[in-house]
Amino acid sequence: MLYIIDSANVEAIKKCLEFYPISGVTTNPSIISREKTDFVGLIRQIREVIGPDRMLHIQTTSTDTDNIVRETYALTKLVESNLYIKIPISPEGLKATMRLKKEGFNVTMTAIFTQQQAFLAAQAGADFVAPYVNRLDNIASDGVQIVKEIVELIKTHDIKSKVLAASIKNVEQVHKTVMAGAQSVTISPDMFDKLLYHPLTLYAMDDFEKDWDSVYNGKKIIDLIEKNKLN
Ligand code: E4P
Repeated sequence: MLYIIDSANVEAIKKCLEFYPISGVTTNPSIISREKTDFVGLIRQIREVIGPDRMLHIQTTSTDTDNIVRETYALTKLVESNLYIKIPISPEGLKATMRLKKEGFNVTMTAIFTQQQAFLAAQAGADFVAPYVNRLDNIASDGVQIVKEIVELIKTHDIKSKVLAASIKNVEQVHKTVMAGAQSVTISPDMFDKLLYHPLTLYAMDDFEKDWDSVYNGKKIIDLIEKNKLN
């Protein structure tokens, strides 16, 4: 299972990379626009911060096949390695995906709301298909159930695509999509902290510290071992 950061904020990305096991970064035009900065400079900075081996998913801003392909070639020069071109599902998007796969590029088909959209994307060769879990929940659909069925479809038909659960807004959606078999999940930087947080963990850690300090007067293990070496 791959954890991916759904953000283009360089400082937030840096913080996540420091503390969490991260496989890449996803962006879309809304996420990039939020940074209100030079696009090319921002992409270069993100690539530098995440290193050459992590995935960088960047969404096309064109909607016709020829221009999606042109943007992919241009982005490949900019990003250099591990670019995943994100293409919203549409007939032109599928056509672009089939062409780009033949030409050796990585594709993530995005803005997926139904099982059959995902299945078509997978059949077209997309490396990742990205169902929008929270946006589905917001319209009284069931994002997790749709992820589950997409996972099953891909498995039953032995297709290589992976499910990238996207538009995730709470811990329950992360947990349930992973339980449903999604091979990757993209979440905002603050969601990583929420996945980790539990007051009983903090309580337990506090107790460990108090018990230890009551005997060892605030000395740490390293202090005790080093003191012993000197004696
Ligand atoms: C990521 O790839 C998607 O574009 C993103 O998760 C969409 O989420 P949103 O519903 O927060 O816009």
